[in-house]
Amino acid sequence: MEKIVILTGAGISTESGLSTFRDEGGLWAQHRIEDVATPEGFARNPALVQGFYNARRVQAAGVEPNAAHKALARLQKDWPGEVVIVTQNVDGLHEAGGARNVIHMHGTLAGALCSACGHRWGAPPEMAVGEPCPSCNRPTARPDVVWFGEMPYHMDEIYDHLASASLFAAIGTSGQVYPAAAFVHEAQAAGAQTVEINLEPTLGASGFDTYILGKASETVPNWVEQLLARPS
Ligand code: OAD
Repeated sequence: MEKIVILTGAGISTESGLSTFRDEGGLWAQHRIEDVATPEGFARNPALVQGFYNARRVQAAGVEPNAAHKALARLQKDWPGEVVIVTQNVDGLHEAGGARNVIHMHGTLAGALCSACGHRWGAPPEMAVGEPCPSCNRPTARPDVVWFGEMPYHMDEIYDHLASASLFAAIGTSGQVYPAAAFVHEAQAAGAQTVEINLEPTLGASGFDTYILGKASETVPNWVEQLLARPS
């Protein structure tokens, strides 16, 4: 059966109450990327960086999945083939909406990582500066999120999925951050149909076969409905 690979970005979670990065008033209008989302920024001012992710962790814990997250979980459950969800989001809203095996290529707010020994564990709601790693005891805990200049997670697995996809959808992502922005080309090279679902056409919209415009909470359930109604 046809395999569907879905890439999601901040736009799928914004109707749940979480900010996007690049929309007006988004996170990157309020914070400098180099201060809060790079290893160098963390080395310079760990308190600022932990504070930024602590605030996002608290926010993410207080919101609910919306109709778009739930529709993708339904697609995973009811589609006769495989549905792979790859997300750039560090919130847990896909899982809260019922999705399984979500690939978090930019890590997750729920995780802590030791930058010294690589040990991973569940992050407390508030991470403190210099918090010790439970494995090596060094004061080198950091949020388990991918920063600019670092390699996103699970790339081999993602490229394998793209190489065997029949349909690729990018939902609520501006397509400005690589390598995720190039997934559409990988999928096309493998012969997949491609669709962009976004509030507005992105700079890379012309690279997709089709696009669907509107709020994710409306467009995604409709799209899923149509896919599931397709004669197999
Ligand atoms: P962006 O903030 O760059 O893009 C959000 C996209 O969502 C935009 O294209 C909006 O048009 C769209 N959007 C907004 N509201 C929407 C809605 N209700 N329904 C559908 N679409 C909507 O966020 P990302 O593309 O996710 O990485 O950003 C990618 C990466 O850049 C993030 O993972 C993060 C950031 O820097 C790191 O921090 C490493």
